[in-house]
Amino acid sequence: MAKITASVYTSHVPAIGAALDLGKTGEAYWQPLFKGYDYSKQWLKDNKPDVIFLVFNDHATAFSLEMIPTFAIGTAAAYTPADEGWGPRPVPTVIGHPELASHIAQSVIQDDFDLTIVNKMEVDHGLTVPLSLMCGQVHEWPCPVIPFAVNVVQYPVPSGQRCFKLGRAIRKAVQSYDRDLKVQIWGTGGMSHQLQGPRAGLINKEWDNRFLDRLIEDPAGLAKVPHIEYVREAGSEGIELVMWLIARGAMSDNPPKVLHRFYHVPASNTAVGHLILENT
Ligand code: DHB
Ligand code: FE
Repeated sequence: MAKITASVYTSHVPAIGAALDLGKTGEAYWQPLFKGYDYSKQWLKDNKPDVIFLVFNDHATAFSLEMIPTFAIGTAAAYTPADEGWGPRPVPTVIGHPELASHIAQSVIQDDFDLTIVNKMEVDHGLTVPLSLMCGQVHEWPCPVIPFAVNVVQYPVPSGQRCFKLGRAIRKAVQSYDRDLKVQIWGTGGMSHQLQGPRAGLINKEWDNRFLDRLIEDPAGLAKVPHIEYVREAGSEGIELVMWLIARGAMSDNPPKVLHRFYHVPASNTAVGHLILENT
């Protein structure tokens, strides 16, 4: 049967993609950020999964105000990088896993979570930047990826509690897939940042680090935090962090092994957090 071996958590920031694509990773501003992912790149090479289930948010690229799915699963064979205004990033096309994605859709929808099925989608920095951070600059991504898009852009957004429970349903779905596949689940976006209004530039290191502690030790308690606390404490875009609870919810009930933890400010307007948790 398929199993979830580990979860990865990382912020996405479009400027990180630009730094990589424009050859700026050696600059003093970016060096400490990329150094935090050296361990992760080696770990991913040494622990290559068969599939990555990548929870991310679209930033009005594939979806717009015309159509706002709360949870959308990619069942396509491939996803091309989107043009977000400066041309598509020069990164590989993302190869999907339609068979496992369809199985997860079947299981999770029958488990009372109403997913939108996406058979065609371009993917923005929310998906490609985490892949770049974890894989570096490559000609192809290491394995197929199932994109799972969450609406954290247009209110109402899903609660942490619902995301955590959805993670549990995804775990059950993966574990009932009749092939020996190693699956990693990635939760992306966050940490504290606000891109708009009078509080633009807000960063809350203490709150972010407490979030990382609780994600490791007390995810069920963390899932109860209401969305208004994310907005107050971590800024309007800090709400992206609810996506980490989907990945955490998909992990085993046993305490995970913390393989790597990293926190860095600044990266553009965003506090960057990163964790790798292994199932025990
Ligand atoms: C930034 C961060 C984001 O999460 C995003 O989607 C866009 C921009 C930033 O820090 O610049
Ligand atoms: Fe974002």
